[in-house]
Amino acid sequence: MKVILTADHAGMTIRNEVKALLDEAGIEYEDTGCDCQGSVDYPDYALPAAERVAKGEFDRGIFICGTGIGMSIAANKVKGIRCALVHDVYSAKLTRQHNDSNVLAMGERVIGPGLAREIAKTWLETEFDGGRHANRIGKITTYEG
Ligand code: RB5
Repeated sequence: MKVILTADHAGMTIRNEVKALLDEAGIEYEDTGCDCQGSVDYPDYALPAAERVAKGEFDRGIFICGTGIGMSIAANKVKGIRCALVHDVYSAKLTRQHNDSNVLAMGERVIGPGLAREIAKTWLETEFDGGRHANRIGKITTYEG
């Protein structure tokens, strides 16, 4: 599995926690930022990273900002992206099983790094259930055109 990881200035701590998780798990990833100390604009990070997932360059994306909301809104504008904003382990599992989410968004001003690591681990390890859920995702894909 190849993962693209990105964050704005408000997501640096969880970004580093997810990097440690990916390193420990031996999962290949690219970190696309940010490297700044100042304020940046989350769409500048979410949109290019989401496009690279949509193109198939990466299997999954993990996007971090203050709330996770901006990253998730931007990512879901990209055709083929199913970004789930998740702040609990149950939803991390279910959004893989039912929604086949290909991007995970989390907010560093909402949860701490320990929970973020558990969420990311669960999300990375859980497979899509397929079946009736594939039919439902197909309806979204058809709508996207
Ligand atoms: C940055 O202040 C903050 O707005 C951003 O990280 C994110 O929470 C937006 O949704």
